[in-house]
Amino acid sequence: IWSGKDQKNANQPAATGQKRPRNDAGNKVTVVLGAQWGDEGKGKVVDLLATEADIVCRCQGGNNAGHTVVVDGKEYDFHLLPSGIINPKSISLIGNGVVIHLPGLFEEGDKNDKKGLKGWEKRLIVSDRAHLVFDFHQVVDGLQETERQAQEGKNIGTTKKGIGPAYSSKASRTGLRVCDLLGDFKDFSTRFKNLVQQYQSMYPSLTVDVEDQLKKLKEFAERLRPMVRDGVYYMYEALHGPPKKILVEGANAALLDIDFGTYPFVTSSNCTVGGACTGLGIPPMNIGDVFGVAKAYTTRVGIGAFPTEQLNAIGELLQTRGHEVGVTTGRKRRCGWLDLVIVRYAHMINGFTAIALTKLDILDVLDEIKVGVAYKLNGKRIPHFPANMDVLQKVEVEYETFPGWKTDTSAARKWNDLPVKAQNYIRFIENHIGVPIKWVGVGKSRECMIQMF
Ligand code: GDP
Ligand code: IMO
Ligand code: MG
Repeated sequence: IWSGKDQKNANQPAATGQKRPRNDAGNKVTVVLGAQWGDEGKGKVVDLLATEADIVCRCQGGNNAGHTVVVDGKEYDFHLLPSGIINPKSISLIGNGVVIHLPGLFEEGDKNDKKGLKGWEKRLIVSDRAHLVFDFHQVVDGLQETERQAQEGKNIGTTKKGIGPAYSSKASRTGLRVCDLLGDFKDFSTRFKNLVQQYQSMYPSLTVDVEDQLKKLKEFAERLRPMVRDGVYYMYEALHGPPKKILVEGANAALLDIDFGTYPFVTSSNCTVGGACTGLGIPPMNIGDVFGVAKAYTTRVGIGAFPTEQLNAIGELLQTRGHEVGVTTGRKRRCGWLDLVIVRYAHMINGFTAIALTKLDILDVLDEIKVGVAYKLNGKRIPHFPANMDVLQKVEVEYETFPGWKTDTSAARKWNDLPVKAQNYIRFIENHIGVPIKWVGVGKSRECMIQMF
């Protein structure tokens, strides 16, 4: 009955002579996920794969994400739109697990339209089960940050895009979904007013021009209507029709995951592999390759423990050379050495089939390079990643030190073009995580990606 490690066809019925339906697994999706605290270069990896993809999906998060793609010298940044929207031959899908701020969505589309991204509205599909982020959710996000600062002397450093409040509405079952907006508008208006009232009772300073909001939402509803589908059925057909290349673009990252991240300094969705199933309504058996994206060093935006952070000249060098500025908020990203403890932890949860290691070129000028390989507590190595933030603040990082290669790698296009010292650095990372590195990034643009196998 139980499928053992090597048991094949475990779910096939015993030969009883009766005809039984066959469990046709269908197509598999390829998932791209952040393995650190975000901004690892997921957009770039998705863009690379999206050139051949039929469908590119977002399954969680909202416009707190900021994914940069550079094609033919033109830089695009995507927040809610899947990065695959660049490919005129592929369909982009926003799944039920995403929270959508409609003004943000259309503003993003229109901005990219001006850059030459024509016809995006015709290539976008939006799940009718996705929840909506309203303007007041964004205001509340700001009010909650002020409250945290006043109560605890620190906030989370959210993107103020209303992500936390919108997922809170979803969990407390007062949220409104795309299907509600497109249904009976009178009913929608009543529920919208109730939701506003709830938030106003929690935050008396919150003012909302309800009529103006409803008027705008009604307009957005008509612009959105042609794109809306039953996301579950759309994915079912895509998985069980003719062979299709389907890509899932993770937003945020493992260490920002609501369950597994550095809670409470996290976002409000599951940015690990389970989010692909719940955020699209697809079975686990349809998950194929899971690619983890990790930078050759570590960055973090916002507050929270960061054991390998370098609050010194090294951190500053990584920040300036790496242009480490948030795409969504314009904040400087905090920088430090590559922390393999967190990447291994991300692998425990996600089961990466391969890794994309980005921004190797940023390390080109360093005399020596360090990599965090273990955490110690009271002088003893710990095998797990601590759940408690106070504990994580206290860990001592054990480093492995490598000589720098002091060579410009930005023109490298294949493994052999890389200096031996850089090759050793990559091989060490691969062996330490126990996952093959499939790509190495040496620059911003599409062609600056060395494919290893
Ligand atoms: P995402 O949120 O994971 O999609 O990543 P972001 O777009 O927020 O941040 C990654 C930044 O690094 C972007 O500005 C990319 O253009 C840039 N980038 C990605 N890969 C590389 C690389 O290999 N080398 C360099 N120099 N820049 C890269
Ligand atoms: P991409 O997809 C980096 C961080 C915020 C904050 C915390 C909570 O570009 O990698 P939120 O607004 O989600 O409630 O903020 O999570 N954060 C990110 N940091 N990259 C992201 O996305 C992020 N999405 C959220 O800075 O610390
Ligand atoms: Mg980003």
